[in-house]
Amino acid sequence: MAAAWSPPGAPSSWRLTAAQFEVLRDDEELLALAAAIPPDRLPPLLFQAAATFLVLELEPHPLRDWFPRVGEAQPPLPADFNAHYRAFCLDHRDRLLEVSSLHRYQMNEVGRCADVLPALSPAAQDPRGIALVDLGTGAGLALHLDRYRYGYRRGGNTDSVGDAGAAVVIETELRGEVAPPIPAALPRVSHRVGIDVEPLDLTDPDVRRWLAACIPQEIGAVTRFHDAVQVALAHPADTVRGDAGEVLPAVVASIPEEALVCLIDTYVHVFFSAEELERFRTLVDALGAERDLDWVSIDPLVPMGDAATSSVLGIDVPPALLRRNRREGVFGVIGRLSYRGGRRSGALLGLAHPGAAWLEWLGPGAIVSSPRHS
Ligand SMILES: C[S@@+](CC[C@H](N)C(=O)[O-])C[C@H]1O[C@@H](n2cnc3c(N)ncnc32)[C@H](O)[C@@H]1O
Repeated sequence: MAAAWSPPGAPSSWRLTAAQFEVLRDDEELLALAAAIPPDRLPPLLFQAAATFLVLELEPHPLRDWFPRVGEAQPPLPADFNAHYRAFCLDHRDRLLEVSSLHRYQMNEVGRCADVLPALSPAAQDPRGIALVDLGTGAGLALHLDRYRYGYRRGGNTDSVGDAGAAVVIETELRGEVAPPIPAALPRVSHRVGIDVEPLDLTDPDVRRWLAACIPQEIGAVTRFHDAVQVALAHPADTVRGDAGEVLPAVVASIPEEALVCLIDTYVHVFFSAEELERFRTLVDALGAERDLDWVSIDPLVPMGDAATSSVLGIDVPPALLRRNRREGVFGVIGRLSYRGGRRSGALLGLAHPGAAWLEWLGPGAIVSSPRHS
């Protein structure tokens, strides 16, 4: 976990997030505490969010000052951070467990829109306009991807797209040799709807406080989240409560025929069981046999971790990528399944840091899966 968020060469602002995971990983007492969290509630992530929640709420000195504040630079991480953080977690063990029992880990990283955007480039050129369906939308921040500005940096150059006055600016560092297909203009979104088993109501200040604690404590991520919440509050979008595998057919049926349906899935299907995932793929195949659609996934390989063998979309993964996954820890694999006239095609397109610190494009149609419908 720590290596994934803050690998060698990552900006130093990610060190705090990595250090929080390291303290937990290396401490028997804290691990025993986290072990009280049921496995299906993602113990390391929920533990980290609960600890962050308490730091932001209780403002302990000096710990609070090592966590970022919107409008200020990321504070440097002192050598004694680990000892202070460990002691704080142990001193507040009861509240930590209480906060963990009252919440689910629900991280909304709006930065992932910078990874989705190039995967939408064929759809962005489609005259039909896009109907965005954000699966596992959480607070719905990705539903506004056409309202943000993006900066793709390589060396000293930045390729930007989006309104220069946008309230949310997402910047990411390009890695590798291949340039992602950044659309010249943002896609025209004609319809937007989110689906979530537990949609989050941003008008509730308690919800906003919990979500802010689920965000990695990196100043870019913290600022993006803060700004994106304002955009979402200003533009309420439809959200359907339910299991995506159950409600998707009705949601798609409610979208006007003339729109091109784009399903967005960022860090959602990676948490499905193998059976749920297979059922969902079959469902999308059935929907794609009826109307044109894209399914863009930014998810780690599955099963998550060293034992990964497959991509969420079911597209074959080359051995070199599986080896890289074992070496580097969790990163997002960008893939797209496209259904046009009942024919399916698919490709793994790129790799991305889980919090949008970097993006690496694999090249046009690096790996293509065979169509299932004809
Ligand atoms: C890790 S969060 C990712 C949120 C957001 N997509 C992002 O990348 O910032 C996963 C989200 O998926 C939702 N979720 C999990 N299983 C789901 C399901 N079967 N159907 C719909 N939503 C689901 C959770 O409630 C949570 O909001």
